[in-house]
Amino acid sequence: MKEDINRKWWKEGIVYQIYPRSFQDTTGNGVGDLQGIIQRLDYIKSLGVDIIWLNPVYESPNDDNGYDISDYRNIMSEFGTMTDFDELLAGMKQRGLKLVMDLVVNHSSDEHRWFQESRKSRDNPYRDYYHWWPAEKGTPPKRWSFFDVESNAWKYDEQTDAYYLHCFSVKQPDLKWENPKVRQEVYDLMEFWFEKGVDGFRMDVISFISKDTNFPELPESYNGEFIPFYSNGPKLHDYLREMNRSVLSKYNVMTVGEAPGVSIDRALEFVDEDREELNMFFHFDLMELDRAQGETFTMAKEPWKLTEFKKIHSNWDAVFAKKGWGSMFLNNHDFPRSVSRWGNDSRTHWYNSATMLQTFLLSMRGTPFFYYGEEIGMTNVKFTKISEYQDINTINRYKTIQQNGGDIDAFLANEKDASRDNARTPMQWDTSENSGFSKAKPWLRVNENYKEGINAATQEEDKSSVLNYFRKMVQVRKDHLTLIYGNYELVLPSNEQVYGYTRSLDQKKYLVLLSFSTKKTTVKIDEISFEKAELIISNDDIYPTGEVNRFELMPYQAAIYKLF
Ligand code: GLC
Repeated sequence: MKEDINRKWWKEGIVYQIYPRSFQDTTGNGVGDLQGIIQRLDYIKSLGVDIIWLNPVYESPNDDNGYDISDYRNIMSEFGTMTDFDELLAGMKQRGLKLVMDLVVNHSSDEHRWFQESRKSRDNPYRDYYHWWPAEKGTPPKRWSFFDVESNAWKYDEQTDAYYLHCFSVKQPDLKWENPKVRQEVYDLMEFWFEKGVDGFRMDVISFISKDTNFPELPESYNGEFIPFYSNGPKLHDYLREMNRSVLSKYNVMTVGEAPGVSIDRALEFVDEDREELNMFFHFDLMELDRAQGETFTMAKEPWKLTEFKKIHSNWDAVFAKKGWGSMFLNNHDFPRSVSRWGNDSRTHWYNSATMLQTFLLSMRGTPFFYYGEEIGMTNVKFTKISEYQDINTINRYKTIQQNGGDIDAFLANEKDASRDNARTPMQWDTSENSGFSKAKPWLRVNENYKEGINAATQEEDKSSVLNYFRKMVQVRKDHLTLIYGNYELVLPSNEQVYGYTRSLDQKKYLVLLSFSTKKTTVKIDEISFEKAELIISNDDIYPTGEVNRFELMPYQAAIYKLF
């Protein structure tokens, strides 16, 4: 009997995320652009991916690289024009690729017309588009800000003698969702892009949109760990349902919310189909695994444990086993490169660990999101000097530490592993100057290892490259519906070297074995019984052990078997 799997294109699709600033420059200004993406569409198509998620390409003064939008209906001039955008979309449609845009509506830029108006006077028609606290009420209750040197989310504005709220930088004032006009503006701009033919949105910090506008003093318990407080605003789900009713339900589109601070027990509130809110969201449990308690951007002292890594994925999979749908990612523009973080980017282990991690994402339930360069195993750049960084997050945290007389060396050591710029260095296309990204000096320094095989052109020619393994593994996922929809079951739960699980559907069963170890390891699978294991794919040679349920794995080896 066939199991009911409720098939959807956005469940079966593989996403390729592009940070446009770093993908391909065609104008010679050191900044990537839309024509650059157009030029590379055949390459993207050749990967076998189905959906492109573009980081923001809208008009922006770039305080936070496009996450501060000054015009939601125009293209950032550095990236091109609306004509370029239309050409990009048409080129994608021609190739059967779908396009997901970034929707950044928790805040706008302070240079957006709405904010320019809003700050003019207390009775301006746009006043209520943002959160203002009149100074005569005294200093507003503490709210934290991510990119503020004082971590103060309230900025005093002389013009109207009031403070405005900015949970991110001072140039990113929070929009007031409590105002129905603001919500209507958002729905209208979403329609504008859907009418153009865009296939969905990744929704930036969508969990932060609803606020208690009385701004009560925060409970002590949130001191230092404010993200969960920001994420559970009183009207959040009303707004998401309204958005769904007003816009999303009219189109066959994909939605994925960025949801920091949303814990596993609240997951289904967002993605249970019956609630009609979102398709899926990004949780941050994995991204916190190697971080200090409550600190998104500071590494923990202790190394992370594979058993914890497994637990996170097993627990989240269980939530979505019957309802909703998950998303899978190991890195993005906010977190360091996956092979450097979860694998091992030393010369010896780079190939196996990069391909092992690809095998992982492509054999789990949940839509896999790959980040440009992950298909060729791009690594952390590990800057050593503050002058090399471009990210407001690193630069402003540096200033904070400087002001407080903190430990700058420790901070720079941390950023080497944790900084967002690790993941933003230009795409490594070939061995020509600046990795083929640009003829001019790139906006962010290129990782020098493009000269040592970490580039697309060299790997294209090499049958056993990370790139060509990626393509093969993508095909394996496409050929095996079980890997997409099948039940997930953990084996070897307490093993600290090997992550093993089975995926099963309609009497078919597969075993996935992933070594996270620098040593050769042997595992025996006792929890399940099978008579034969037939190899589907591996990133290394297989050494038969003579016993059907015993497997020898090379360092960072990945292998998928069909079980009989
Ligand atoms: C999200 C984005 C990040 C940005 C922030 C503010 O977390 O992914 O890049 O800085 O929101 O918009």
